[in-house]
Amino acid sequence: MAKFQAPKGVSEYFPPRSAHFEYIRQTIIDAAKGSGYELMELPVFEETELFARGVGESTDVVRKEMYTFEDRGGRSITLRPEGTAGVMRATIEHNLDRGQLPVKVYYSGAFFRAERPQAGRYRQFYQVGVEAIGLSDPLIDVEVIAVADRAFRQLGLKNYRLEITSLGDSLTRANYLNDLRTYISKIDLDEETAARAEINPLRLFDDKRDAIKAALVNAPVLMDYLTPESAQDFAAVQAALTDLNISFVVNKRMVRGLDYYTGTAFEFVHEGLGAQSGIGGGGRYDGLMSQLGGANLSGIGFGLGVDRILLACEVEGLSLPDNSGLDLFIVPLGNAPEALAIAESLRDRGIRVGFAYGDRSLKGAMKAADKSGARFSLVLGADELESGVLTLKEMSSGVTQSVTLSALANHMVALIAQFGEDF
Ligand code: HAM
Repeated sequence: MAKFQAPKGVSEYFPPRSAHFEYIRQTIIDAAKGSGYELMELPVFEETELFARGVGESTDVVRKEMYTFEDRGGRSITLRPEGTAGVMRATIEHNLDRGQLPVKVYYSGAFFRAERPQAGRYRQFYQVGVEAIGLSDPLIDVEVIAVADRAFRQLGLKNYRLEITSLGDSLTRANYLNDLRTYISKIDLDEETAARAEINPLRLFDDKRDAIKAALVNAPVLMDYLTPESAQDFAAVQAALTDLNISFVVNKRMVRGLDYYTGTAFEFVHEGLGAQSGIGGGGRYDGLMSQLGGANLSGIGFGLGVDRILLACEVEGLSLPDNSGLDLFIVPLGNAPEALAIAESLRDRGIRVGFAYGDRSLKGAMKAADKSGARFSLVLGADELESGVLTLKEMSSGVTQSVTLSALANHMVALIAQFGEDF
């Protein structure tokens, strides 16, 4: 029978690589929690209109990449292509925008874009994101960037750079778009491209065609239009990043793929990834909340691409924890039910215990212990159970130590505490 295959272009993780994936995701979550971000768990599908309005009708994401379908009640539903619009929806719906500010949340999960699959570009991919809502202090921009940077540093990544820009405030944009429209009106565009540029002339900068790129070479640059307030905020962001030793380059021509950005915008780019080099991006979105019917609050956040960060770690040859993290592997010898009861009582104490099931030879079982990646192993045969004296073996060194059955749990807990994080 023909085998089933996963839908085209999705990313999937299974052991042993899934341990790396999980470690990366947790490292980012820990960095977010360490700066006071709390979990927001949201549906993976929303009303289509939320993304059309939130992300922007002129974006590739909304025009070409959404998984949209009608549900059984005839509603138009879309699998989330990104996280910010959903966070805004939930914040408004549950009146968090009228409560204690700022609202600082993180989220982690699958996102969906019907893009052409290639290395590092998937139709289902994973992000960890944060959003800080209700503060316009430029220092919160820096905090958000620092969360991502800390996560990357903790993973040991080196060959990435931070690019930042400012998209200014509404006055900046009005003045800039005016001049950009005038400039674009002199370029010869096909009907579809002209229509797109009409909705948002900035989207022309996304165009991959050489002729369009060439026609835009002398286009006005948004950053030259920053109002004094926007310029001051951007300078404050740069100064604080410098103080924190977070290096960055200013990219005047950065174009983010989503329409909601204002003020500070940024991308983390990894040098070893080829075409899909963006390992994360984000920025400020000061008009989004009110545009979606909420209070007029500012916001800033990021989305980091877990799939691409994993690829980046692999390109850099980083060694990430690659086993199940078992503390102990128990090999029963003819006394499996009793041995399992011991394993279960250790598990009750929070010790991570693997077990050799099935009627295996001692050799086969020891092989399983080896493969499990557990730090210690223990053979439990009739002799051990009778005498209550066990031999605990450290797998990496082969060194053994004697411990009584009654002291085993406390002994293991002490060992785990002693070895701490690397255990
Ligand atoms: P984004 O730049 O569209 O921003 O996506 C963020 C990251 O998700 C990218 O840098 C990339 O690492 C990853 N990513 C995006 N598309 C794919 C794909 N098809 N395959 C693999 N990875 C992908 C956002 O989504 C914004 N919501 C971020 C944000 C939060 N801005 C403010 N708050």
